[in-house]
Amino acid sequence: MKTKAFTSPSLAAVVADVLLVGVFEGENFDGAKGNSFAKSANLLTEGSLARKAESVGFKGAVGETMEHFTDGKTAAKQILVFGLGARDKADLTVFRKAITAALRKARALKAKHVAFAAIDAAAIKSDAYGVGEALASYAAMIDYEMNHQKTEKGGYKGESHFAKLHLVVDAGSVKETARGLKDGFALAASVNLARDLANEPAGECTPDRMVKLAKKIAAESGGTIAVEIHDRKSLKKMGAGAFLAVAQGSDQPPYLIDMLYTPKDGKATAELTMVGKSVTFDSGGLDIKPADGMRDMKRDMSGGAATMAAIKAIAALGLNIKVRAVMAATENMTGGSAYKPGDVLKTMNGLTVEVDNTDAEGRLTLADAIEYAKRKGATRIIDLATLTGAVRMMVGDIACAAFGNNDEFTNLVVSSGDAQGERMLNVPMWKEYDAFNNSDMADLKNSGGAPGSTTAAWFLRRFAGEDIPWVHLDIASVAFRSRELGPDPRGATGYGVRTLVEMARRLAK
Ligand code: BES
Ligand code: MN
Ligand code: ZN
Repeated sequence: MKTKAFTSPSLAAVVADVLLVGVFEGENFDGAKGNSFAKSANLLTEGSLARKAESVGFKGAVGETMEHFTDGKTAAKQILVFGLGARDKADLTVFRKAITAALRKARALKAKHVAFAAIDAAAIKSDAYGVGEALASYAAMIDYEMNHQKTEKGGYKGESHFAKLHLVVDAGSVKETARGLKDGFALAASVNLARDLANEPAGECTPDRMVKLAKKIAAESGGTIAVEIHDRKSLKKMGAGAFLAVAQGSDQPPYLIDMLYTPKDGKATAELTMVGKSVTFDSGGLDIKPADGMRDMKRDMSGGAATMAAIKAIAALGLNIKVRAVMAATENMTGGSAYKPGDVLKTMNGLTVEVDNTDAEGRLTLADAIEYAKRKGATRIIDLATLTGAVRMMVGDIACAAFGNNDEFTNLVVSSGDAQGERMLNVPMWKEYDAFNNSDMADLKNSGGAPGSTTAAWFLRRFAGEDIPWVHLDIASVAFRSRELGPDPRGATGYGVRTLVEMARRLAK
């Protein structure tokens, strides 16, 4: 998708398959309140936009769209009017919802060349950069399809619907809008990369495949990303007994992948470590999952995919911060050497864990990954994991759950998520739940019972400790869905990438 911001002497001259024009609710194309593009679009069509709106009942609510053939009155073949809602309630969040509907409609109309008559950024309490970023990122996210392996219809090859996205802006906004477009597109390319990885069949997306991709991303980073790979032998030396136990039942060798981004000038003062659950297939192990529960478990590496994709975007944006991504990649299988319920494992941090359930494997891999991150000098850690099915009981599929040991850092994570349209529920970590992970045999057991998401978070907290800020995002509720939602397709969503990049941006300031 090629993006461009430009000025045009008249809306009539803007070439496109579909020209998107936003309208605030109740303002009826009169432009009296300042939306001059809506007014001129109506004038160009000799008032037929307003007449059509009247007859079909288009009011301008968020989510509403109305298409209109211009019959040669404009260089754009069609004008697609979309609702922005009430002017006084408009902000970037509302704007994103509005353009989601508009872009989905443009896609349904098979528009290849989309132009957008940009609204006054102040009206959505944003700026030219914000408008550009939102549009490019949402267009590229909405363009995504997972049909790569279809041979009949060609399948998705990086882009399939929108070829051009052109923003019409005033002369003073061209530069900032273009910058927003460029960054938004880079961001969405990473979201789509995370989706691709998570959608990839487990037979292809093995730990080894994740290693190769990490190396490829590093090779393309202009020397800003370094990769360190730890194989079974090296992990044994480090004492990563929990991670290695999970890997025991699989024929695929496990790898700990460590990617480190250092900005070009090397003057970064801030640091961020991201840890992503990277179980490339979770059969449940000997405590095997039923068929329904196993069906989506090729996506149990969604957290790792998000961290790998985020570091790529952070490098593309050249942010002035040191960022590390740690992925302990393995399958959880049932082979003859598989770890067993009742086994006692020695983690890298020294704590012992009794295996209560081999299907609670994520926290075991993360315990060692978090300890590894700390040994590498992490000053703040965020982990993302499809950790518990129970999180869906809390938040359905419209948010993930955040657990943290430091309010300031947790607030940074949650507000970065809000700013990017990735919603999170900040769940309290009442101390009483900590004891639920106690074992008679060992320091801990790996399943502490209800509330399952919170006891899992407490398990991780025993490894993260209290000395450095840490947040755990349980993304099992949002990493993949069986329905389309917002800018997300069915299947993998790439959830977390935008939050991680936004966090890195804020910390870099
Ligand atoms: N990967 C699963 C969690 C999951 C479930 C993610 C559904 C996405 C959708 C995780 O490894 C798991 O199996 N968790 C168990 C923990 C239990 C055995 C304590 C669960 O949630 O049932
Ligand atoms: Mn599991
Ligand atoms: Zn799992």
